[in-house]
Amino acid sequence: MAAVLRTMAATMAAVALVGHVQATEVPLPPCLDPFRPFVYSGCFQDTGSPQILPYRSPASSDDMTVEKCVAECKGNGYRYAGLVYYGVCYCGQTVNGPAVAESECSYPCKGNSSEVCGGNNIFSVYQDPTFLPVEDVTIQDYAPLGCWTDDSSYGRALTYRQNQVDGATLTTEKCLQACRDGGFPFAGTEFSGECWCGVVIGNDTYSANAETWLAAQLARTSSSSSTAPPPTSTTTSSTTTSQSSTTTTSSSACVSTTVVPPTCEYKCGKWCSSPLPDWSDDKTCKGAWSNCALQVASCFKGAGWPEVLDCFDFGEWCGDISKYCDSKPSGGCRKSDFWGKKPPKGGSNPPKTITVTTTCAPATTTKPAGTTTTKPASTSSTTKCPVPTPTNICVQPSNGYYGYGPGKPVGGIEMPVVTCNDLAADWPGYPFKGYSDPDSRKCRKYPRNGCTNACADACKEQYEDCVDVYAEGCRRKPNRGRDASYFEFAQADGLERRTWRWNDSWNGAVDKCKAQYSDCLRVNRGVTGAGKCPKFGGW
Ligand SMILES: *[C@@H]1O[C@H](CO)[C@@H](O)[C@H](O)[C@H]1NC(C)=O
Ligand SMILES: *[C@@H]1O[C@H](CO)[C@@H](O)[C@H](O)[C@H]1NC(C)=O
Ligand SMILES: *[C@@H]1O[C@H](CO)[C@@H](O)[C@H](O)[C@H]1NC(C)=O
Repeated sequence: MAAVLRTMAATMAAVALVGHVQATEVPLPPCLDPFRPFVYSGCFQDTGSPQILPYRSPASSDDMTVEKCVAECKGNGYRYAGLVYYGVCYCGQTVNGPAVAESECSYPCKGNSSEVCGGNNIFSVYQDPTFLPVEDVTIQDYAPLGCWTDDSSYGRALTYRQNQVDGATLTTEKCLQACRDGGFPFAGTEFSGECWCGVVIGNDTYSANAETWLAAQLARTSSSSSTAPPPTSTTTSSTTTSQSSTTTTSSSACVSTTVVPPTCEYKCGKWCSSPLPDWSDDKTCKGAWSNCALQVASCFKGAGWPEVLDCFDFGEWCGDISKYCDSKPSGGCRKSDFWGKKPPKGGSNPPKTITVTTTCAPATTTKPAGTTTTKPASTSSTTKCPVPTPTNICVQPSNGYYGYGPGKPVGGIEMPVVTCNDLAADWPGYPFKGYSDPDSRKCRKYPRNGCTNACADACKEQYEDCVDVYAEGCRRKPNRGRDASYFEFAQADGLERRTWRWNDSWNGAVDKCKAQYSDCLRVNRGVTGAGKCPKFGGW
């Protein structure tokens, strides 16, 4: 990316050509050094498109004050700071909304009730007086900085894409003009036709001549292919063959039997569930429920549009198993009985008597863990493998402004469960696992000090599903207006029925997903997993 630094930073309010914020923006810490105080600019309304201020600070709104928000915006290089709805903090280079009467700004800040934090969709706006007025800046004030790398896994070099600038006729001057108009101190062009602006140069960005850039790319490619989570398989895959495999590692206690159908058990689009273990009483039934619930997130990740909407049904079906376990069915609590009542959808075959036996307890022999032999299907088990309960050690964030919270994530899409590792062979040193694949052997495992990373990964995946499913659903949803009656709902087709409550615009939906993501990262920073999953099976 050819970046250009403006030597004199400046802008003026209400010039509104800002592109959409990229999810790849890396939040920087608040400015803790003394700086010239921001001055109050007034009370402004958010009309939603474009958003009044595009950067949402990840700082908690629970103890937000004007000073904290201003420090967030200063630390991230923005000119304006805006507070809304009791203390949600935003920053931006321009204020993209009309001024409204001062009396509209009336909500106290959660962190200091003598300060005002906007209203509902109304922002109290402050500005950094060290920026010069935009009229005083021309594109000649920008100085060339050379060639820079872009788009690392830590974010982009410059965050704001200028989609309004036509790519086919892009020139450096046009891009400079767009960034100047948007009040940005940095401008950059890449891919012949893309113009980007920024308030800072992204934190993982390097000045690049051709050779160092190429070297970095090569290093990156080889390291990324080697850091992909290896499937920590200790048994042969059993779901696609007609033969069962049994681990013969002669460990002491815990050997389990699983009845597997030869093909896909529950299918949503491109995704197949991993077969649930057989059950024969309420305790093993709950184990099957746990196994089911741990797979829900992977459905959202893998099913593909539009069948991904069936994943909501899959989640409910798992819940039905739990209810079934509690119901003390007269014919005995058995998988086949439940199957008769609520067959899984999409799977082509009924469950068959194919038995897979895996060791659950840590192996005590020196035999290689992958050793397998084949046994007849009739083998039955002694003890069942313990399945951890599907309680997430990561926290679903809450936000009154956007209306999400525990039990009601954006779009109803929960984050993948991070809980105890269910595989003994995986366990040593790695008590935790993020359940984002139906095959638990392919799920990423985490060491005891890795909970924050595990939760950050879960937050990211929830964000991706939120955009791919919820925002996508909002975009495609047949438009019957916001007040579609229950009667209409009952008559609606599958897509509309499922997206009934999804009445956000695509942009609005993405904003919600982003807000939930940044809140998620913040609230999970303190999750340590201390006291959780102390020993294998002992959860
Ligand atoms: C709360 O805000 C008021 C008004 O800005 C200020 O005078 C006061 O010092 C603040 N209180 C705290 C605890 O920061
Ligand atoms: C900056 O990027 C590095 C990777 O280059 C990352 O480890 C670090 O957390 C980032 N810092 C901030 C403040 O985001
Ligand atoms: C979406 O619909 C719900 C229920 O009908 C309503 O409470 C909510 O305000 C609506 N949201 C938007 C963004 O229109």
